[in-house]
Amino acid sequence: MDGTMSLRARGLPASAQNGKEFPGSLLYKTNMRLPKRLVAHRCVLVLCIVLGLLGLVMVSFPLMERGTSKPVEWHINPAHKQRVHKYVQGVLEGQCRPSSTRHSLLARLPASSLETQPFLWKDVPLSDDLFLYPPPFGFKGIRGRVEELLKLLPDSASVVQPGNTSNKCRRCVVLGNGGILRGLGLGTLINKFDVIIRLNSGPLGEFIDDVGNRTSIRMSYPEGTPLHWMDTDPQTLFVAVVHKSVDISWTSAMINKLSVPLWDWLFFWQKVPSEIPLKPDKFRLLNPQVIRETALYLLKYPAPKPRLWGSDQNVPTIGVSALSLASLLCDEVSLAGFGYNLSQQGAPLHYYDHLSMSFMLQQTMHNVGKETELLQSLVKEGTITDLTGGIHCSFCPS
Ligand SMILES: *[C@@H]1O[C@H](CO)[C@@H](O)[C@H](O)[C@H]1NC(C)=O
Ligand SMILES: *[C@@H]1O[C@H](CO)[C@@H](O)[C@H](O)[C@H]1NC(C)=O
Ligand SMILES: *[C@@H]1O[C@H](CO)[C@@H](O)[C@H](O)[C@H]1NC(C)=O
Repeated sequence: MDGTMSLRARGLPASAQNGKEFPGSLLYKTNMRLPKRLVAHRCVLVLCIVLGLLGLVMVSFPLMERGTSKPVEWHINPAHKQRVHKYVQGVLEGQCRPSSTRHSLLARLPASSLETQPFLWKDVPLSDDLFLYPPPFGFKGIRGRVEELLKLLPDSASVVQPGNTSNKCRRCVVLGNGGILRGLGLGTLINKFDVIIRLNSGPLGEFIDDVGNRTSIRMSYPEGTPLHWMDTDPQTLFVAVVHKSVDISWTSAMINKLSVPLWDWLFFWQKVPSEIPLKPDKFRLLNPQVIRETALYLLKYPAPKPRLWGSDQNVPTIGVSALSLASLLCDEVSLAGFGYNLSQQGAPLHYYDHLSMSFMLQQTMHNVGKETELLQSLVKEGTITDLTGGIHCSFCPS
């Protein structure tokens, strides 16, 4: 099931959220037109059930798929592996250019982005435009809950930013979960980056030879978070991404080591973990401005509109949002494990499961086109580097 989380990042959280808000608003408005309301309510109910069943089918499908398929056989060309290692080594040993990634991204961002902070804090005033849009672009209508959550977290002055041991120039690597990482043996090189950002449930364990064993940040929303925590790095921060208001309650429960309220379970589209074994000072709340900037200015998606049903194609995946976050934490940003090559149908889709690339062709919710276009142009212009070459390979023989 882990395998599909990244694929579903955009669609389902949105519909889950609506499932919560819509019936609620109906209940409050009992007036003269009651029968009409009741009919509307029934339609909503039927829709809910249909969507629920559809969701079940989609969630169980990859399970069946995995049950019947054999591990993907995949052979790495030794010459290719050598080229990748040489390239990553070059990136690590090259001159580190202070603020270079953020500086280049700012050319695509509005002037206000100069002020963007990666995380929110209880001791830093929350700007008003944070409350213009609903999650994941803002915290419209849930200011109180956000402030309650922030009270559980440390204040900004008491913590150091990830990787900030001195004023040295820092390199971030954002680890995607792509099968392109499998067998490349990049673990020890990845460990040399100052800040290592992992996404959702991307596991370590038996895969550390390929993906390293350090984790500076694990960034996820509830449904993407590993059910069994694997990061042993004492530095690990959990960065919570909020897609719907119930994600705030879940994050608070994780910090307080309390159980998730029964009612809240209804609004998750997939099983969520019931504990994260980190101290409260290791949790952070991602500033939704980071996602808004990514959507509106980097991907040039239209401004978020209130929707009743259906998925929103205009929410960036967690991978691209992580790249924006990394640009705020580090001087240089690299990607690894990004990109799908659909013409290699037998290749592994993720580095950790048995799905093959052909599975992607059956996905309709995942539209990687715009993001790939953005990432390709960022790699080509030198704003970021792509260590594994799945987005744009600058070290492959042409
Ligand atoms: C990193 O730490 C140095 C002092 O060690 C401090 O001057 C600097 O402002 C910090 N940078 C960030 C981004 O926190
Ligand atoms: C990663 O592996 C190295 C080498 O085996 C070990 O020294 C280090 O403690 C490990 N780090 C973590 C966070 O597990
Ligand atoms: C995708 O795979 C095909 C077939 O192996 C290869 O020719 C092509 O160069 C690959 N594309 C990228 C972007 O790596």
